[in-house]
Amino acid sequence: MNDDFLRALPKAELHLHIEGSLEPELVFRLAQKHGVTLKYPSVEALRAAYDFSDLQSFLDIYYAGADVLRDEQDFFDMTWAYLERAQADGVVHTEIFFDPQTHTARGLGFEVFMPGMKRALDAAREQFGMTSRMVMCFLRHLSEEDAFATLDASAPYRDWITAVGLDSSEVGHPPGKFERVFAKARELGLLTVAHAGEEGPPSYVWEALDLLKVSRIDHGVRSEEDPALMDRLIAERMPLTVCPLSNVKLCVYDTMAEHNLKRMLDRGVMVTINSDDPAYFGGYVLENFRQTQAALALSDAEMARLARNSIDASFLPDEEKAVHSARIDVLLAEAT
Ligand code: ADE
Ligand code: ZN
Repeated sequence: MNDDFLRALPKAELHLHIEGSLEPELVFRLAQKHGVTLKYPSVEALRAAYDFSDLQSFLDIYYAGADVLRDEQDFFDMTWAYLERAQADGVVHTEIFFDPQTHTARGLGFEVFMPGMKRALDAAREQFGMTSRMVMCFLRHLSEEDAFATLDASAPYRDWITAVGLDSSEVGHPPGKFERVFAKARELGLLTVAHAGEEGPPSYVWEALDLLKVSRIDHGVRSEEDPALMDRLIAERMPLTVCPLSNVKLCVYDTMAEHNLKRMLDRGVMVTINSDDPAYFGGYVLENFRQTQAALALSDAEMARLARNSIDASFLPDEEKAVHSARIDVLLAEAT
């Protein structure tokens, strides 16, 4: 395997929860800074708790971890740490998800977390030339009313937000629950994405497409169970932001070798590789590329296709996509 090649490929990360990039070391540092008592005695003990049986078992720990984020600098530090890691992995563009309701429910307003994240994204643009977008996610286990209130509260920061998304506990909370909120977001000029088909059934992917009018499906791996849905995803070149290490950690697949990513790629689905919540799932985006290539015996040309898909599926303008795509051509020509 050619690790330098995988690293050098220009990659866009399209499915990254910034709160899921909070490493245990930073959790402990921030807990100490703010005098927060943690349930675990050490970094090692906290990391040892990252042994999940499903999505909910992860979310419980993920929301508890985010409780140490208390001021603007904390959001800067978390975001900056992610951006440094992403840059080292060859990420040239990132579209980060953030969960306002995780913070507003604790009494933190948009004026605390938005500037912290934005300052880090601006610094990455200046220092690394890395471009970015922000995607505001609604927690689907909460009510439609709460999502509307979140959309309203985000108004002063509208120019910083490119799209809205939908995350948290999937089963029992179909995309249709948020049809009206997403319609309002689209009226405001925002794009839309949604988690669907991670643990939930293919019908949730249909709803995300038909009711929420999404530009991409986050995860979407269960689409494979529905041949008509697969045909539609292929015909519409609908991107799936797949997160292989996440899927194994959350027991969607028992092993990486059983992952359906290669089958979907072979069928012509526009698959991308992403890290989801890298601090919790054992690897950032390059590690996802590496382990996927090794487990599924993908060629360098297939890895280049995955990188190119990520660029094409991003919200970058066409001219910037073309620059990254041309670089992928050069790297692939050199490698073969
Ligand atoms: N929030 C953070 N990671 C998530 C995931 N993989 N699925 C749903 N909600 C999430
Ligand atoms: Zn996710």
